[in-house]
Amino acid sequence: MRIVSGIQPTGNLHLGNYLGAIRNWVRLQEQVTAEGGECFFFIADLHAISMPHDASQLAGATREIAAAVIACGVDANKSAVFNQAQVPAHAELQWLLNGTARMGWMNRMTQFKDKSGKNREGASVALFTYPVLQAADVLLYQATHVPVGEDQKQHLELARDIAQKFNNDFASEEDPVFTLPDPMIPPEAARIMSLRDGTAKMSKSDPSEMSRINLNDDPDTMLKKIKKAKTDPEPLPSEAKGLEGRPEALNLVSIYASVAEKSVADVLAEFGGEGFGKFKPALAELLVEHLRPISERFNELKKDEEQIDAILARGAFRAREAAAPTLANAYSALGLLR
Ligand code: TYM
Repeated sequence: MRIVSGIQPTGNLHLGNYLGAIRNWVRLQEQVTAEGGECFFFIADLHAISMPHDASQLAGATREIAAAVIACGVDANKSAVFNQAQVPAHAELQWLLNGTARMGWMNRMTQFKDKSGKNREGASVALFTYPVLQAADVLLYQATHVPVGEDQKQHLELARDIAQKFNNDFASEEDPVFTLPDPMIPPEAARIMSLRDGTAKMSKSDPSEMSRINLNDDPDTMLKKIKKAKTDPEPLPSEAKGLEGRPEALNLVSIYASVAEKSVADVLAEFGGEGFGKFKPALAELLVEHLRPISERFNELKKDEEQIDAILARGAFRAREAAAPTLANAYSALGLLR
């Protein structure tokens, strides 16, 4: 197995990033490296320039997300941890894949529609071709599995389409240039929703801090955010089907289930019939206890810039080595003279 995944260095790491993706990175890292496979986890700093950004903040934000990922349990001795900008092969392969990606495929990407909003003409070209860079990110390493949240599924389907068309057009069936990657989406935490609106995903770009739990929120802040989380007046049902049509209640119960590593049914067996007055403090306590060690490690590590830079440099070295053969094959398959 070859595991590859990334995260953008915009804003803080939140509970959706953690439960939807990073916790799976940690689990897979243990399993896969024990079996002789490899893991590549990167900070998608090249993706971050697709939206207006503050250049003076980007390096700091990249280091901070790297520290957060390591605080969550990604082990830089087991996995390669790096940022894209230190591995030029990402940008190079993106250009090569631009020849294969079709305008029609790109036009269907919902993230571009969401992020460009009404100002399509004013959006950057990078925002439009963002999913091609994402395809390059995973195809470069022959990823077999990509642990992500539900919102990245469409981008990974595109990566498969690009790989398939490239293999078809420029390689033989016996000797393909790219492996088709499979997304790995955790069933219980595929889509963690905003605490203010159970129909919108928890996101770094939501202007309301109350909409998300950041991994380094202090216990009082977490408690306050959970207490103020939007709910309905009904008590919790004792069976999962009773959560239908109650998105906020479903979200809080799913968060509890995911953190406690229980099923939604088990959580409801415990709390069914209780009101949120009882459930919310229990959820807040669970979160505080679970996230405390992560937040402590993060606060320590982020002070040590030198150590983070050394980790990223080492990871980038491993990544450049791993990426070189595939990049060379892609150039050669396209008939480029080098
Ligand atoms: P990003 O930085 O938005 O999010 C990082 C990871 O967190 C997951 N995630 C969520 N999961 C569940 N519920 C949520 N509310 C939630 N919010 C975020 C995302 O699905 C993701 O797995 N384009 C990617 C970064 C990227 C990438 C890649 C990922 C660049 N290249 C190659 C995988 C493979 C992004 O912006 O993720």
